[in-house]
Amino acid sequence: MKKVITYGTYDLLHQGHINLLRRAKEQGDYLIVGVTSDSFDRGRGKLNVRNNVLERVEAVRQTGYADEIIIEDYLGQKIDDIQKYDVDVFAIGSDWEGKFDYLNEYCKVVYLPRTEGVSSTMLREESQEVYRLGIVGSGRIARRFVPESEVVSGTDVTAVYNPIPGQAAPFAREFGLKAFSESYEDFLSQLDAVYIASPHLTHYAYAKQALLAGKHVLCEIPFVLSADEARELYDLAEARGLVLLEASKTAFCPAFNHLVTLVKSGVIGDVVDVKASLSKMMEGQTRELDATQAGGAMNEHAPLNLMAVIRLLGRDYNKVDFYSKKEHGVDVYTRANVSFPHATSSITLGIGVKTEGNLVVSGTKGYVYVPAPWWLTSFFEVRYEDQTKNKKYFYSYDGDGLRYEIQEFISMIVNKRKSCYKLRREESIAISEIIGKFNRQENYTEI
Ligand code: CTP
Repeated sequence: MKKVITYGTYDLLHQGHINLLRRAKEQGDYLIVGVTSDSFDRGRGKLNVRNNVLERVEAVRQTGYADEIIIEDYLGQKIDDIQKYDVDVFAIGSDWEGKFDYLNEYCKVVYLPRTEGVSSTMLREESQEVYRLGIVGSGRIARRFVPESEVVSGTDVTAVYNPIPGQAAPFAREFGLKAFSESYEDFLSQLDAVYIASPHLTHYAYAKQALLAGKHVLCEIPFVLSADEARELYDLAEARGLVLLEASKTAFCPAFNHLVTLVKSGVIGDVVDVKASLSKMMEGQTRELDATQAGGAMNEHAPLNLMAVIRLLGRDYNKVDFYSKKEHGVDVYTRANVSFPHATSSITLGIGVKTEGNLVVSGTKGYVYVPAPWWLTSFFEVRYEDQTKNKKYFYSYDGDGLRYEIQEFISMIVNKRKSCYKLRREESIAISEIIGKFNRQENYTEI
């Protein structure tokens, strides 16, 4: 029996796929089709796949050409599969011409004619509504947004807003945006959704006004500086049927999510402590060192670190205390201890004190270690007393990493999902609550 193997994502199964599978089958007597897993696709930067792996497997099965369907889950798997299944022919579309010649060492490689004029990418673009996005603010963070949004389908960054005369126009020119505005109402009227990347203290008012105008909101961190404001905005979004998402970028990246699911499934036993740190030295005339603009290490860096604590330990903490070192009226260093009924946690943050920015999650059976910079998670290790059981996990963290939160935001809009399991509204409110306690100096000690 001559065995043939072929691979693909097979999203929104189309005639090109069907022709390819038929041609592949004609190469032998038995066809094995490898369908990519959702995490494998995400890991290689393919973020827009519409059908999940079960739907894609079912679509391939229904073509009637596959004798066996397997899941492709890791780089290098093709070599393993070819040997494991004793494959004679590896077949793939001609768009991959030359790319799989290295498999000639294991079996015959054939490139089959590709069907012109159709692809999953094309179908996704045709069927997807494009959402007009506007950026509030034109500073450092806003600059990263445009290139990142370009890799997420369904987005069109159309406008930028900055109330300071002369700021929005050069930004729009540089990034090729159709419009810029110094009037918020005028800006909102041109959009479906906004990304708020303005100074911290303006987030609440901009988000509220956008929601009242019927726009979905993706808001940079710190989202808002109190639980009351957070709750009010989420209630408003709920009442208006709109998406409101805190742009806690690490919460949406593949590696961090895998870390959370592994921990939740018990690989390190019961979690007893979480330690997260982040320091980024700041100097000069910068917003981070300006007390009138809610500067300081806590407002700047707590959102990502508290996100890790709360996603791993829940939002039912029972006590928080803060230790800060202050300079120029802002905390240049803060250590916050957040205790839970059965666990402890601490976040160590600096903008004028340098420390190792790693994440350690300690449990009754082992611990997870994420080296600095833990918030750009691309690698972590699960470690045990018996080091032979340690396991390392590698992922890609593409670009500036904003693509993952943009993708989640658009997917929530498209699928009319108001809450996101990667960062639930109640979790986001708990983060704002702890930041609020700090700003009110509850259980606060200056060192
Ligand atoms: N294929 C084909 N003709 C097309 C599209 C795909 O022969 N018009 C083949 C590919 O060469 C590959 C298989 O179908 O052998 C599965 O490819 P996949 O990546 O799932 O399909 P695409 O439509 O190319 O997907 P995307 O646009 O997401 O890259």
